[in-house]
Amino acid sequence: MLFDPRPKTKREDLFDREKELETLQSGDAPMILILAPRRYGKTSLLNVFLNEIPDPHIFIDCRALIVEETSKEVFYRFMTNEINRIVRSDKNILKWLERIKGIKIFGFEVSFAEYEKSPPNLGEIMKVINDWSVNSSIKTLLVFDEAQLLRFFRRRGGIDFVDLFSYIYDNLEGIRIILTGSEVGVLKDFLGINEVDSPMYGRYISEINLSKFSKDMSLEFLLEGFKQIGMEPTPLILEKAVDALDGVVGWLVMFGNKAVERKRVDDEILNEVLSEAKLVVKNELEQLFKNSEKYRYILKALSYGANTWSSIKEAVEFYEGRKITDASFTRILNRLISMGYVNVRYGEKKIYEISDPIVAKVVKE
Ligand SMILES: Nc1ncnc2c1ncn2[C@@H]1O[C@H](COP(=O)(O)OP(=O)(O)OP(=O)(O)O)[C@@H](O)[C@H]1O
Ligand SMILES: [Mg+2]
Repeated sequence: MLFDPRPKTKREDLFDREKELETLQSGDAPMILILAPRRYGKTSLLNVFLNEIPDPHIFIDCRALIVEETSKEVFYRFMTNEINRIVRSDKNILKWLERIKGIKIFGFEVSFAEYEKSPPNLGEIMKVINDWSVNSSIKTLLVFDEAQLLRFFRRRGGIDFVDLFSYIYDNLEGIRIILTGSEVGVLKDFLGINEVDSPMYGRYISEINLSKFSKDMSLEFLLEGFKQIGMEPTPLILEKAVDALDGVVGWLVMFGNKAVERKRVDDEILNEVLSEAKLVVKNELEQLFKNSEKYRYILKALSYGANTWSSIKEAVEFYEGRKITDASFTRILNRLISMGYVNVRYGEKKIYEISDPIVAKVVKE
């Protein structure tokens, strides 16, 4: 069902995204990034892909990971669960895993429990999984959802994932890495793709940039979704919904789902969805504005139509009641781009815009 609010797992529930699935399935780049702001459908695309291919995968939801703790122990626990999931579908891997110094195997269950303080090296674990994969003529996928969060492991006694990725990239052809990121710039900075002294520098990395649905696609999405559940809303309300929610699929689903719940589709339902969506975004933004009020002012300027570097800066100076330096303004604007709140379009001039219509509404209020 298109309006199911959970991340999709089956192709029949995934609207469009055929091109992206095809890219994932046919690509053999050692590392693939799936990039898009929040609620554009990254996890759904990933789930459907993982469900369809026969290759085994290790899937780490980095949000779940850091909710617990950014410690080695927690990461190894997630990793062990995933390895045990693979063991359950192919016991042969045990013969290979046995080679890891510091692994314990009880029956069909592996653990690093006794070695919590100094567990086997991750590179060594990946090497063994690689050898098993190559021997079985398969590729194992190492998947991190919201991978920019892995940067919080990069401290003394933590885990350097960029080192791990570059080791895998260069040496382990039986493993493919897939990362998603809603903070696109933050993820790229973390990987250091463009930094000469980063271990990932100069590596070819395949990118899938998910975009919003166009207006027509969004209307089609809603029409199809309502058809599935036997509802026939008026074209006018669908137009209104798409105008308000734009092609952000997460919001469109929220609208459809609310209509299903209430068994009707009208202005009131749309308004209710808008209020709920605004609440969600407001909470996210409050966290951001704690770091600097300038984030608020830039988004506000954008929401009122300023869209060039100088017009946004001028508006921000007006809200702040004082001048800011070019460098400090650019830094804050770039952070917003990095985190996915602001998109840049390149034409004659660089044009900046808010990537989510609900964010624009919230900062306007
Ligand atoms: N192609 C699609 N067809 C139908 N529904 C979709 C599609 N993509 C996403 N959705 C729905 O939109 C919502 C957000 O999707 P999802 O969680 O996959 O996005 P995301 O980009 O991973 O978001 P986040 O950044 O919050 O993790 C969910 O309700 C999901 O079911
Ligand atoms: Mg997601």
